[in-house]
Formats: sequence, C-alpha cells, structure tokens
Amino acid sequence: VKRSVVLGIGSALPKRVVTNAELAQTVDTSDEWIVQRTGIRQRYIAGENETSSTLGLAAAEAALKNAGKTPADIDLIIVATTTPDLTFPSTATQIQSRLGIFHGAAFDVQAVCSGFVYGVAIADKFLSSGSHKCALVIGVDTLSRILNWEDRTTCVLFGDGAGAMVVEAQDQPGDVKTDRGVLTTHIRSDGRHGPKLCATGGPSSTGSVGVLTMEGKEVFRHAVGMITDVIEDAYKATGFTSEDLTWFVPHQANKRIIDSSADKLGIAAHKVVITVDRHGNTSAASIPLALSVAYDDGRIKRGDLVMLEAMGGGFTWASALLRW
Ligand code: ACO
Repeated sequence: VKRSVVLGIGSALPKRVVTNAELAQTVDTSDEWIVQRTGIRQRYIAGENETSSTLGLAAAEAALKNAGKTPADIDLIIVATTTPDLTFPSTATQIQSRLGIFHGAAFDVQAVCSGFVYGVAIADKFLSSGSHKCALVIGVDTLSRILNWEDRTTCVLFGDGAGAMVVEAQDQPGDVKTDRGVLTTHIRSDGRHGPKLCATGGPSSTGSVGVLTMEGKEVFRHAVGMITDVIEDAYKATGFTSEDLTWFVPHQANKRIIDSSADKLGIAAHKVVITVDRHGNTSAASIPLALSVAYDDGRIKRGDLVMLEAMGGGFTWASALLRW
C-alpha cells in the first residue's frame, strides 16, 4: 500500500521574543499567573516584515533541506493558517510561487489550531490515492495580528511561528504495526461551539478581520474529552495503545490541557513533547514547531511511533498517528 512517509521537518520563528515580564509592563498580568495557569514563559511575536507567508516559506525551505528534496519534487502544498497575508490568493500559492514551483496544486486549510493535523490528514488522502507524490504540509499563524492587546485573558496565551513537513508517497508492506508513514488520521468538527473561540470579524460580514475572543473556561471544559476521543479512534483503527507510543506531540495551547489529556489516556509524562513554555500557543504552527524541536534535539528518530493531536476554534479536533 502507499503510505505518506515523513522525509523532513523544519520551522521558523520571528526574531522578537516577548517574555511574560515584558507583557506585564503593558497588561495587568504577572509571570506567576501566566506560568501557573498555562505553562507559558515566553512567545515570539512577528515584526513588520514577518508574515505568515514569509515564516511559512522559511519553514518550508528548512523542511525541504532536512528532507533532501528540492522544490521540483513537490506537487502538493497545503498551508494550515487562520491568519493569511491576504484574504486571497491563498498563502499556499504565495509560498508555492516563492519556492519557484509552477506545477501541482497549492491551497490553504482553515481549521485554526487543528489545521496542521487536518493538513496531514488531507495530504495523506492525496498521497495514498496515488494522485500526488510529494507534499509540503505547512502550519503557520501570526495570531498576534488579531489579538486584542488590552484583553489579558487572551493576549498572554498566543505567539507566532511556522513549521513544515515533507511527506512522500512510498510503497509499504501494508502492515499497520510495522509500516512507516501516516497510519491513521481522524478529523472532527462541531460548529455549535463556534462562538466560544472566534474572531469578531471577517471579509463577508464586517469587512475587517476583527480580534480573537475566547471563553477560556468553556474551551478548557471541552478540550480534554475531544482530544481523548480522536486519539481513542486512532487506537481503535490500528490496535495500538498509549503504551506503544514513542512520542505524544499535542497541540501546544496550555500545559494543563496537555497534562490532563496525557493523564486520562495513560501516556507517560516522559513521552510528551512540550514547547508551550517557549512558543506560547502558535495555533496551526504549534505541532510542526514541537516536532521540529524534538527532532533537532535527537528525541524523534526514524521508526518512532508518534501521535499528533489538536483541538481548536470551530470547534475542530483531530489526531494523526504515524511511524517516523
Ligand atoms: N493575568 C492575570 N489575571 C488574569 C489573567 C491574566 N493574564 N487572565 C485572567 N485573569 C484573571 C481573571 O480575570 C480572573 O479574575 P477574577 O477571579 O477576579 O474574575 C482570574 O484570573 C481567573 O480567571 P479564569 O478565566 O477563571 O482562569 P482559568 O483558570 O480558567 O484560566 C485560561 C484561564 C488560562 C484561559 C484557561 O481557561 C485556559 O487555559 N483555557 C483554555 C483555553 C485555551 O488554551 N485556548 C487556546 C486556544 S484553543 C486551543 O488551542 C485548544
């Protein structure tokens, strides 16, 4: 069978680091409050010349290099983002053109924090069907641009960044237990929860982008259940259990949500990759950024069984289980 095998990973962060202490100079908050409630210590904030397309492009170039591939090899680009440079054209086509790729297809996916896992799921359908050969899946967001910097209940939580993954269709024996590549993906959504985490505007309603608003407690209340549901779906589809995982790479929104989910699923703490302390919640970028950190420091290696999971605005939620 054809499976989508991960060939490389890369990431990019804005230059400017903003610590909790620095935020506390302009917002009524404290390092202690932020660390205790979220685990976040700092975040990166995009400057004037840093946008979703420039960060996404830098991450894509790093992933291509890591994969040993050139732009000519790529025939599918999927960019997960909620903060495109422009209403249109898509960030994916902008990155495609800057990479010098004039063949294949490129499009954006909008599933907020779950976008990268949605992107992996979509790429996997294209690659395993045989229609495309090699995909770049990019998760990028610059949520700082749509934050209300006077709302301390949201502005302390988010950061900017980008991560990218190169996945290639490769023939595998067809044994889910030993094959390399994406083994199963599960994507879900329920629009009834939309107002709990949303932007206050958009091109068709207000003509402006609006600002991010969130009922934090409501998001928290649903997060753990939704996350564990899609992970259990992955276990049901493959026969694997939490014991079998080498790494658990969750969306990095809040350390308390990650810890509760791992605890409920019986995933040992040493298998959980945590980067929310240094990146904050980077929305669609958080998982490929975390993968990049754990790959670069030598934790994630070929043959490892890796569970990706995310939940975010919509609500949307998703899991992807893969053997690196
Ligand atoms: N600094 C200091 N005090 C603050 C801050 C702040 N930045 N923000 C809120 N407070 C105050 C509140 O005003 C409140 O004060 P009060 O008791 O006098 O009214 C108090 O702290 C407690 O506020 P709560 O909202 O009850 O705090 P809670 O423990 O629920 O933590 C948080 C808030 C961190 C947002 C939490 O609800 C949460 O993590 N929710 C999940 C949301 C999330 O992570 N979303 C990410 C996007 S979605 C996703 O990616 C999954």
